Amino acid sequence: MKNITLPTPHKILNIIHETQAEYTFRVQCSDEIRHGQFYVLSIPKVGEAPISVSAQGDGWVEFTIRKVGRLTNGLFGMAKGDTLFMRGPYGNAFPVEDFEGKDLVVIAGGTGLAPVRSMLQYFYQYPEKIRSVHLIAGFKDIHCVLFEEDLQRFKSAFHTIYTLDNSREDGFETGMVTKFVKDIPFADFDDYNVVIVGPPVMINFTAKECVNQGVPEDKIWVSFERKMSCSVGKCGHCKINETYVCLEGPVFNYVRGKELLD
Ligand SMILES: Cc1cc2nc3c(=O)[nH]c(=O)nc-3n(C[C@H](O)[C@H](O)[C@H](O)COP(=O)(O)OP(=O)(O)OC[C@H]3O[C@@H](n4cnc5c(N)ncnc54)[C@H](O)[C@@H]3O)c2cc1C
Ligand code: FES
Repeated sequence: MKNITLPTPHKILNIIHETQAEYTFRVQCSDEIRHGQFYVLSIPKVGEAPISVSAQGDGWVEFTIRKVGRLTNGLFGMAKGDTLFMRGPYGNAFPVEDFEGKDLVVIAGGTGLAPVRSMLQYFYQYPEKIRSVHLIAGFKDIHCVLFEEDLQRFKSAFHTIYTLDNSREDGFETGMVTKFVKDIPFADFDDYNVVIVGPPVMINFTAKECVNQGVPEDKIWVSFERKMSCSVGKCGHCKINETYVCLEGPVFNYVRGKELLD
């Protein structure tokens, strides 16, 4: 059986430059992964960091990584064919089976789109499994837009609203994602779920806006990118009150998650 606490070498199959600061790394891997889980990626003598799986396929996984510090700088210096180390998969996942057959609203800010991308791709591939998908995806500006091909494809199957914080561009609204929550026809839904992913401040305001629009708190799901170290419940880095985000998260129902928002 695989020891998930041990980093193992994996070959980089491809690197896609999404934006100047965000690359998607396709890496050889045949693990069974649930939508929303993450790995700890590492480079020996450089560092390690938890990164969500942004897509998965036959013999590969993808990670979409924002360059912010030691490990991510190191990864951006790597090339196709190089080897990185990974341990995982870790964490819980989105309750996709519970979402099936219902309406689903996904609200994502910036790199927050990465942890929900594989679930969106799944429902795009199997539209019979979901009643409807409404996707609101927000980016700072046109240079920060991720997954352009996916966003185009999703338009044909989902109800989509793509928005830029301040600028005007064809195909995009202008304004924060919170502004568009009122455009979701919650009253027409029989049974539904709302997934919110992004920076804590975005999750906070968006969840509150959903509640203002009459969404019950227990229909909202959030995913946290809390600072972590071991990711296996040993070091306490991720602990908020009595909750180990690495073990019990990163996905939380908002009834519980709202107490964990900083
Ligand atoms: C479950 C989970 C999933 C995640 N998924 C993703 C993902 O899909 N994609 C992604 O890009 N990120 C993701 N992250 C975030 C990622 O793990 C962090 O950005 C990680 O810190 C990057 O590691 P690093 O070594 O490159 O950066 P670090 O060196 O750890 O730097 C991270 C930040 O801390 C600041 N910093 C570093 N050192 C110091 C210091 N001494 N004093 C003050 N500030 C400092 C840096 O300026 C930077 O802003 C996820 C996190 C979690 C917990
Ligand atoms: S990251 Fe070490 S306990 Fe959660």
